[in-house]
Formats: sequence, structure tokens, C-alpha cells
Amino acid sequence: MSVVPYKNKEEGKKEQVAEMFNNISHKYDFLNHLLSLGIDIIWRKKAVKLLEKDQPKLILDIATGTGDFAIEALALNPDKIIGVDISEGMLNEGKKKMKKKKLDHIIDLQLGDSEKLLFEDNKFDAVIVSFGVRNFENLEKGLADMFRVLKPGGKTVIVEFSKPKKFPMKQGYNFYFKYILPQIGKLISKDSFAYTYLPESVQVFPDGQNFLNVLEKVGFKNTQCKPLTFGISSIYVGEK
Ligand SMILES: C[S@@+](CC[C@H](N)C(=O)[O-])C[C@H]1O[C@@H](n2cnc3c(N)ncnc32)[C@H](O)[C@@H]1O
Repeated sequence: MSVVPYKNKEEGKKEQVAEMFNNISHKYDFLNHLLSLGIDIIWRKKAVKLLEKDQPKLILDIATGTGDFAIEALALNPDKIIGVDISEGMLNEGKKKMKKKKLDHIIDLQLGDSEKLLFEDNKFDAVIVSFGVRNFENLEKGLADMFRVLKPGGKTVIVEFSKPKKFPMKQGYNFYFKYILPQIGKLISKDSFAYTYLPESVQVFPDGQNFLNVLEKVGFKNTQCKPLTFGISSIYVGEK
């Protein structure tokens, strides 16, 4: 079943996801750090560390949004990072941030769809995604195109929400995600659906071994899953 942000609209998931992120783009960074109490920053840092040994020079950050994962990936000392996203609103916020931080010469943000990447095969040393894959309209297609543009021997590192399995984290997390987060999200972003879509989309998204199965199906090998903070999020790694 596909969960969409605006159940009362007829557009497909991709259009709705782009519209939703356009709507919340001006509050996205603030809400992200507030709702996760800043833990999202630690998760991205941990994910980037998994590429330390590989020293990738050309990195693609899929569903880059406002570019936070791309900024973390600068710790790897790459020559260039290209970030792509389907939401112009998120990219505009990201571009402002890159300019302000004087990073626009190294981080290049572009409009682009993970399911139809406009890059040649085997181009990137690493392909990274944080909190993006859950929003793909067609997960398999998106992951397959990431595999296509990755160089043989290159790695993908993906961070995504997962579902804690153990008491009491499972219960506490469900309560927070279902009742608290949507209220704060609605109040600040003024979009009444975006932060209801978040827990709903996590609920139906394949996590853990199920996600590794999809990675393997599209060709990734040596796949690994590393749960973070009681399994609230997970890092997935795969090699081409
Ligand atoms: C939750 S944000 C994550 C942004 C950023 N990676 C971060 O960690 O803050 C998800 C992003 O995925 C983008 N997105 C969803 N589907 C996409 C697709 N098919 N191709 C590219 N970007 C996509 C959305 O527009 C949105 O900006």
C-alpha cells in the first residue's frame, strides 16, 4: 500500500511529496532538529563515518533536501558533492544555506528525480541518502537507478527511520510519533498533513532485513543494517 501526504488529492505520491516538502521547506531544518532533539545530526555523522576508508571523491546525495547530509559528507574531503531533489522549495533553502556557508563551489544542488537520474552509468564513488528513500514513489526503481550511477566497488549509505521492536522503546516511540510529533509539526509548519504522513510512511516502509532484501534485489552486495538509537533509525550499506 502506498501512503501519500494528501489523501484528499488525486496526484501521485511523487507530486504530493514534492508539494509537501515545498510547503514545509522554510521550517524543515528547524523542525527536523527540534522533533529529533538534534539526534538526526548524530545519525548523519555516524553514516558518513562508514565511508571514511573509501575516501570517495565524487559523491551523489539523493533526496538532498536542504543539503544537511551533503554538508556532513564534507568530512570525507571529497572534490565534489552533487545533491538532487524533486522539491524546488527544499533546494532553494539548501542553496541559500550553501551560499551563506560558502560551500556552493563544492556542493552543487540540482533538481533531479532518484527514479530517473540524469547521470551516466558508473559515475559516482559513493551514493548517499538520508530520510529520502521512504518518500520514493517506486522504491525499487529509485534504488536501481542509484546502483546504476554508482561505480563498481562504490558504496551506498542510506539512513532511514525504522521501527523499534522492543518494550518500552516501541511503545514510547509510537506514542511520540503518533500523538506528539504531528501536533508540533502542524503548529510550526502550518501543513496539517506533513507530520501525519511521517509516522504513517514509516509504518508501511520495509525496514531491517526487508530493506536489505530490496537492496540485494536491485544488485547491491555485502549489504548491512546498523540500527541507531534503539532502532528508531537505521543505516543501510550496500556495495556495487
Ligand atoms: C525528509 S527529506 C530529507 C532531506 C535530507 N536528505 C535530510 O536528511 O534532511 C526527504 C526529501 O526527499 C525528497 N524526495 C522524495 N522523493 C524523491 C525522489 N524521487 N527523488 C529525489 N528526491 C526525492 C523530498 O523532496 C525531500 O526533500
